[in-house]
Amino acid sequence: MDNVAAIILAAGKGTRMKSGLVKVLHPAVGRPMIDYPVTAARTVGAKPVVLVVGHQAEAVEGHFSAAEDIRCVLQKEQLGTGHAVACTREALSGFSGTVLILCGDTPLLRAETLKRLIDFHQARKASVTVLTAIMDDPFGYGRVVRDNSGKVLRIVEQKDAAPEEREIREINSGIYCMDSAFLFENIGSVGSDNAQQEFYLTDLLAVAVGKGLACQALASDDAEEIMGVNDLSQLAEAARCLRRRINLGLMLSGVTIVDPAQTYIDHGVVIGADTTVHPNCRISGKTVIGSNCVIDSDVSICDCLIADNCHIKAGSVLEGSELLEAVAVGPMAHLRPGTVLHAHVKIGNFVETKKIVMGEGSKASHLTYLGDAEIGSDVNIGCGTITCNYDGVNKHRTVIGDGVFIGSDVQLVAPVTVGKNSLVAAGTTVTIDVPPDSLALSRVPQVNKDGWRLKKK
Ligand code: UD1
Ligand code: CA
Repeated sequence: MDNVAAIILAAGKGTRMKSGLVKVLHPAVGRPMIDYPVTAARTVGAKPVVLVVGHQAEAVEGHFSAAEDIRCVLQKEQLGTGHAVACTREALSGFSGTVLILCGDTPLLRAETLKRLIDFHQARKASVTVLTAIMDDPFGYGRVVRDNSGKVLRIVEQKDAAPEEREIREINSGIYCMDSAFLFENIGSVGSDNAQQEFYLTDLLAVAVGKGLACQALASDDAEEIMGVNDLSQLAEAARCLRRRINLGLMLSGVTIVDPAQTYIDHGVVIGADTTVHPNCRISGKTVIGSNCVIDSDVSICDCLIADNCHIKAGSVLEGSELLEAVAVGPMAHLRPGTVLHAHVKIGNFVETKKIVMGEGSKASHLTYLGDAEIGSDVNIGCGTITCNYDGVNKHRTVIGDGVFIGSDVQLVAPVTVGKNSLVAAGTTVTIDVPPDSLALSRVPQVNKDGWRLKKK
């Protein structure tokens, strides 16, 4: 869209969050709340995007340090929304056109709604246009006061509203379009003679009306979208709406989600068609899951790349791992960061892996710890195998060649190498390298003592 700049108000502390973390950095389905209005503003082509920061300004600025299109402006004291906007005067001095004003705490706002608002505002050559909504319970919001003919007159805040004004159900979303010249010529004239002794941005509507300028309101048909998050219960509600949208998008692209109300997939996760996700899974971070996979119940996956036809069984936890085609994991397995499992690998129950590569078709089916290891293809790791990778100071590597068979209850004291096609017998503690095509056996020979019987007290 042409000639649109955005201001996003994010200086407030968010007192009602009762949290040490500034409100706009609280995450909603995997990204800080502030990212939502920023993304919406970018999507409609707003440039620049000016962020008004105050509380924990360094943290909010730091979050955007790599974003060249974002300018942060410091509002030292939070004297009200009008004052916050006035702080952007210098940052927008070279700009002339439509200024879109958003709040940092409305994560449900859609870019399509902003497009409609901007079109509406520009088509009517308005000085101010406010996005409104009809609420069943308008408590707490500013109310839109109209005259008998329906013309917008002003906005009155909850705390300043007369009893009959409190009956009004059309509320101010806190989202506006303003003509830049009108905005910066008049923002200085707004006073703070009100219940909160604050400079209200909303007073600009009455200013425009008083000057005979066009002042418009566009009623959104989706009140949910403009919900402001003021406390942690509202954050949970907003997150639920965001999750519903994510799950809906996935289902419409061919992913089977058995119970969307109990499936927690974060923003940015990619899942291919014909994959099924069972209830109570949490899928987050930069995770990409291919087609035709099955994710059983109670699975947690973060920052993983999972190829097609994989099966992640119930209760497994996968972090920072890469699974190639048709890998099976779990139930109750733990893949820690740096795990790479090639095609057709099978990891069974109570197996923990960390920083390992496992070649095609290899298996570790039960009760095993594999850390800092390079394991070839078609290797069988027996039940109870442990790579002893840590000597209390340093981590050491275990290398296992292709076709090796490791029997049950084997300890591999790293650094150690087991050559190709060798067999390590059950119960062996491997402390020296095993050459290829050989048998390693460190079992103490069994002794049977005749006539021995357990003596009871
Ligand atoms: C504001 C509106 C109200 C509207 C509601 C919608 C005013 C006076 N009132 O009320 O009509 O219904 O939003 O959610 O504008 N902020 C700053 N600096 C300040 C004050 C606020 O950056 O000095 C930021 C806050 O961080 C927040 C946003 O502005 O992101 C809105 O402020 P908040 O205090 O939540 O306003 P409301 O009382 O909700
Ligand atoms: Ca608010």
